[in-house]
Amino acid sequence: MPSPNFTDPPTERFAAVAEATRGPGWSMETRAFQPGDDPILQVHGLAKSFGSAQILKNINFDFQHNAITTVLGPSGTGKSVLIKHLVGLLAPDAGEVLVGGQDIWSMGENERYDMRTRFGVCWQDGALFGSMNLYDNVAFPLRKHTRKPEKEIEQIVMKALDEVGLAKAAHKAPNEVSGGMKKRAGFARALVMNPDIVLFDEPDSGLDPVRTSLLCDIIMDVHSQHGGTYLLVTHDIKTARKVSDYVGLIWKGEVVHYGPAHEAFEHQDPFVKQFLAGQSAGPLGMD
Ligand SMILES: Nc1ncnc2c1ncn2[C@@H]1O[C@H](COP(=O)(O)OP(=O)(O)OP(=O)(O)O)[C@@H](O)[C@H]1O
Ligand SMILES: [Mg+2]
Repeated sequence: MPSPNFTDPPTERFAAVAEATRGPGWSMETRAFQPGDDPILQVHGLAKSFGSAQILKNINFDFQHNAITTVLGPSGTGKSVLIKHLVGLLAPDAGEVLVGGQDIWSMGENERYDMRTRFGVCWQDGALFGSMNLYDNVAFPLRKHTRKPEKEIEQIVMKALDEVGLAKAAHKAPNEVSGGMKKRAGFARALVMNPDIVLFDEPDSGLDPVRTSLLCDIIMDVHSQHGGTYLLVTHDIKTARKVSDYVGLIWKGEVVHYGPAHEAFEHQDPFVKQFLAGQSAGPLGMD
């Protein structure tokens, strides 16, 4: 199986990814994916205020399918608020969140609930149930949303744990493992329903640079096996440089830039340049 070269431009990487997926995948099903598939996750004109504070003013994204997009923005810009809108946990004041072309806020509660099973979400702290070991945490969505027998659940869970390097820690409790392991367990749990959209809120927070880099490797490996729309929100430029096919940048409630990663890192707009270079001089201050 050829190994995708992640420094290639997106189109070449798609070809490598598509090639790599011809082998046996992680999922129990085999899913073919192609470069240039229509976006399955879109945000149009999203606006949200909390009281008098307008956090999101006009957010527009057609997230490229079968690619990893990183949405960057300074602390407090509303990245986590954006993720909550995408999965239907927060309702927008205006605008649409389209999944497979359907606005999730125009559908009924039951339909929105079903739609959520298309998402795998990795929350900042792993969001594991403290009373369950890693195995039961990862098995949870399968037991809740499917009628699969325990034997099949075991196969899926162990495969997912193995993919994130946690097969040997399956029976440990969350409080017995490190922060990086919790994040990996959260990723395994996000994967078991075979989602076509995977969202990560600050996958790098609280991890040292080496653990962050290793987690990024796992995210890229899993994505290259299964494809899908992967979206990471972070303020860590290093993570963005490492994993992104596409980069979006939000500031003051709007999308300042969205495009292929190599274009973002060469961009001349003063804010884009300052933020992606991590410089103190520029339009972004402490306010
Ligand atoms: N439920 C809520 N009620 C009121 N204000 C909220 C709510 N959720 C978020 N906010 C506010 O919205 C703003 C954006 O928050 P958010 O957590 O999305 O920022 P962020 O970009 O994820 O920041 P960080 O990089 O630090 O995680 C903050 O000022 C926050 O206090
Ligand atoms: Mg956040």
